[in-house]
Formats: sequence, C-alpha cells, structure tokens
Amino acid sequence: KIPVIIDCDPGHDDAIALTMALASEKLEVLGVTLVGGNQTLEKITKNCLTVLDYIGKEVPVAVGTEGPIRRELTVAANVHGESGLDGPTLPPPHSKPVSTHAVEFMRRLIEGCDRPVTLIPLGPLTNIATLFLAHPELKAKVSRISLMGGAALSGNRTPTTEFNTWQDPEATHLVFSSGIPITMCGIDITHKALIRDSDIADFRAIGNRAAVMVADLLDFFSSYYKSIGVNETPLHDPVAVAWVIEPSICRTERLNVSVDLDGEHTVGCTVTDFRGVTGKEPNCDVGLDIDREAFVGLIKELLHHYDGQ
Ligand code: BDR
Ligand code: CA
Repeated sequence: KIPVIIDCDPGHDDAIALTMALASEKLEVLGVTLVGGNQTLEKITKNCLTVLDYIGKEVPVAVGTEGPIRRELTVAANVHGESGLDGPTLPPPHSKPVSTHAVEFMRRLIEGCDRPVTLIPLGPLTNIATLFLAHPELKAKVSRISLMGGAALSGNRTPTTEFNTWQDPEATHLVFSSGIPITMCGIDITHKALIRDSDIADFRAIGNRAAVMVADLLDFFSSYYKSIGVNETPLHDPVAVAWVIEPSICRTERLNVSVDLDGEHTVGCTVTDFRGVTGKEPNCDVGLDIDREAFVGLIKELLHHYDGQ
C-alpha cells in the first residue's frame, strides 16, 4: 500500500476525494490534515469530521493553519455554500480532531513511517509549505506530492490562476521550488474529469450511504457550475487521488512550472514552460488529460467498497 497524507479543506470535491481514498486498497491513509480554504478552518473541520463519521472511516484528523502565509483568507462560499458543504443533510460529527497541530502531526507521521510518504494536498498549500520551512530534512522522506491546484493554460479564480494556488501564492512557490517530485492536477486536467447528470444518477443508484452522499454533494456542486453555464461538473480534488491510485488514466508532461508572486493580473499563477523557453529544468509532471470514462469507473468501483453500509 502507498502511505499517503491528505491535506484538504472540505469542500464538496475534497469530501468525495476523501471518500475515494479511504476506500482504495492501494492507499494507506496515515492521516487527514486541514487547512483554511474553501471555508474557515472551523467550518471545514466540522465538515471533514461529519463526512468521515458518516461513511464510517476512522482516520486521525489534525487541524492546521487558518489561512495563507502572508495574505487574507478568501473563502469560496459561492461554490461550496456558507457551510462549505451545503447540500446534503448529514448528522453532526461525534469524533474529534487530534490535539496536535496539522504541521506537527504531518512531521510525526512522516518520521514515523517506514516508507516514503506521498502527500495529497487538495487545498491551499499553506500547511505543506509551513512543514518544509520548519523541517526541510523531511523532504527526503516524501516521495511525491500529487496536488490539486494550478493551471497551465487558464485559471478559474482569475483568468490565469486556479483557486488553491491563488489563495496562497507564497506557499505555492515554496512547494513548487522544494525539489520534491510534483504532480500538478490543475484545471487543465480537472476540467476534463467531467461528471454528467447521468453519472450522478449512477452513483445514487449504487445505493449505499457513501454513494448517496456523493450524489447529494454533486447535486449541489453541479448546481454552481450550471449557474455559470457549465453543464458537466469538473471534479477537481478526486483527480489528485486518482493519479496516485491509477496514474495510467492520466496524461502528464514533465515541464518547468514557476509561481508568480507579484504580477498585477497573475499572482499565484503556475507559469508553465511548454516550449522550454526559460531553459529551466522540469520540476513538475503537469496533468493535461484524463480518461473520463476510466475516472468515472474508478469512482464507482471505490463507492462499491461501502456496500452493506
Ligand atoms: C479547487 O478549489 C476548491 O474550491 C476545490 O475544493 C478545489 O480544491 C478547485 O479550483
Ligand atoms: Ca479543495
């Protein structure tokens, strides 16, 4: 099994990514860490515990940084609602997070693991950057970062820039220049990981509580995309998990990516050198395409893991 830590800000697609990762026999989820992003840290903590309790998965959850290293947090209530997880009605959580801060918790998990760990960040990169600033020696024990974030060709939060990398550009820069192998599952690939209404109906028909929850989450999430004229829903965060479980369904290209920190129109942009004009070494496997049918099939297969619940 691949040991992974999932750092996230649930969030509809984060919740679905967690549901998938915790069902996969290929992954050993050592812990879940939380970062302010889609909503405040308090709200996303409640959301994370609610989802884990509901799907019956026990995994340690650690609460991390409230917001970006140098900037104000800007939540995405327009996409995820006031709660950060609007839509499904789920019972309040009974489990609690561990008392250790997420950054310290990650350090302990990485140091305590007998194999190199894969990090799967699904929100702003604040916790991850803070970890490597404080403990640079841990980089050697991280085999890869498969992250949802960034945009090589066009953004979603601004014309050039994706929400997670835009939220904390300084953290994004620190991670992309860390020397750790990175898979960037940005907008380029996640906007090909499209979920149709018929897929949502298929998930619902699986019938177990996790599958119905995923369908309810997607009903709300897709209503945002429909409101902006997009009729198939890009399922962002699950792509970074899918890449770790089944990399063959994704097409990536090794390229240099640098992060803009102070552009007037491009702050947080993951500037991707497709033509090698900078002469800089590639530092990233940039996700560009995904086999949509295989992706949907993987989600269904993982949801069946919850049959009988
Ligand atoms: C990313 O932004 C968040 O709203 C989603 O959870 C995802 O991580 C997509 O740009
Ligand atoms: Ca997210």
